[in-house]
Amino acid sequence: MKLLLTGGAGYIGSHTAVELLNKGYEIVIADNYSNSDPKVLDRIRKITNKDFAHYNCDVANYSEFERVFKEHKIDVVIHFAGYKAVGESVKIPLEYYENNLNATITLLKLMNKYGVENCIFSSSAAVYDSTKNRRLTEDSPLSCTNTYGYTKLMSEQIFKDAARANPKLSIALLRYFNPIGSHESGLIGDNPNGIPNNLLPYITRVAVGKLDKLYIFGNDYDTRDGTGVRDYIHVVDLALGHIAAIDYCLNNKGAIAINLGTGKGYSVLEVVHAFEKASGVKIPYEFTGRREGDTAEYYASPELAKKLLGWEARLDLEQMCASAWKWQKMNPNGYEE
Ligand code: NAD
Ligand code: UD1
Repeated sequence: MKLLLTGGAGYIGSHTAVELLNKGYEIVIADNYSNSDPKVLDRIRKITNKDFAHYNCDVANYSEFERVFKEHKIDVVIHFAGYKAVGESVKIPLEYYENNLNATITLLKLMNKYGVENCIFSSSAAVYDSTKNRRLTEDSPLSCTNTYGYTKLMSEQIFKDAARANPKLSIALLRYFNPIGSHESGLIGDNPNGIPNNLLPYITRVAVGKLDKLYIFGNDYDTRDGTGVRDYIHVVDLALGHIAAIDYCLNNKGAIAINLGTGKGYSVLEVVHAFEKASGVKIPYEFTGRREGDTAEYYASPELAKKLLGWEARLDLEQMCASAWKWQKMNPNGYEE
């Protein structure tokens, strides 16, 4: 069984690559390293002791990407490639639509041309209107507050329409909640450029001394301690969710959206305290105003994933924080030596 991982050098892609190789799947990675470092390929080899094919290519570029399909008979695609920074997406919306939507459309055209029927897509909880419900099921109201979210919602629609037109297609639209943590080896991890936007990478950079303190965006939310509540999921659990989705795709047709979350929400302060416990490092913080676009609290209803994929998250918040810290401590400068 051969899998193509678009964006396979990124944070979630690299962790999924490791789990796939460890389970004996053959993989091909296609990435243009716009938000990753080719050094990650060696780290994946080091962890798994396995080799794989990889292409430096833009998956939104038909002729560049077609080479991969010409040279490999692919059974399942896992489509991670895309830009993901929410704030940036609002500043340069056309680049986000161009990259994320063209990548999806080009992929589907090539899948149709080369008879590839199965695809797992990286969608996001960003497609939900989290002002309406806190516990989000797959049929909760959808709505986006930013361009990034719209690229995911529109890509989902493109996949659904493609699956309606081609009944052989089998598409799992996986809506990730908040992936954090890293592989137990500490060799791969979340490595955002510049000042991190997301909570955990910000905390680990405070812990390693690269940032002075954490700014907590709002302590006046209607939550148990006033800070925002999210469903944090260990990236290795998330990777295993993709493996469960492979079997589902091979045995079902059509396009379906499935949440990948734990079903539990933790507040910003609870994450800070869990991190301090796991690392032994004190995290100085200051409360500041709410961040635009943030909502008080949401978390996944994880039942559909359990029912259809036979998958559920197993690793707890302390394990997520401990592994994130191990990665940051071992790699204070990311993939730079
Ligand atoms: P990432 O940026 O680490 O990985 C994405 C990879 O795609 C990068 O290696 C980047 O170089 C590559 N890429 C981007 N555009 C490309 C193109 N046109 N051609 C080839 N490669 C391209 O992000 P991640 O955190 O691993 O996320 C993976 C996917 O999951 C993304 O689609 C993201 O939007 C989605 N997602 C992420 C989160 C999260 O919190 N990390 C949450 C929900 C959904
Ligand atoms: C963000 C995106 C979401 C995307 C997700 C995963 C927004 C509005 N939403 O979700 O679309 O799918 O990342 O990439 O950007 N926080 C702080 N201080 C910080 C950073 C975060 O207090 O420096 C708080 C936030 O207010 C929030 C929580 O920590 O309550 C988690 O934030 P973050 O990690 O950015 O994820 P989301 O906002 O949930």
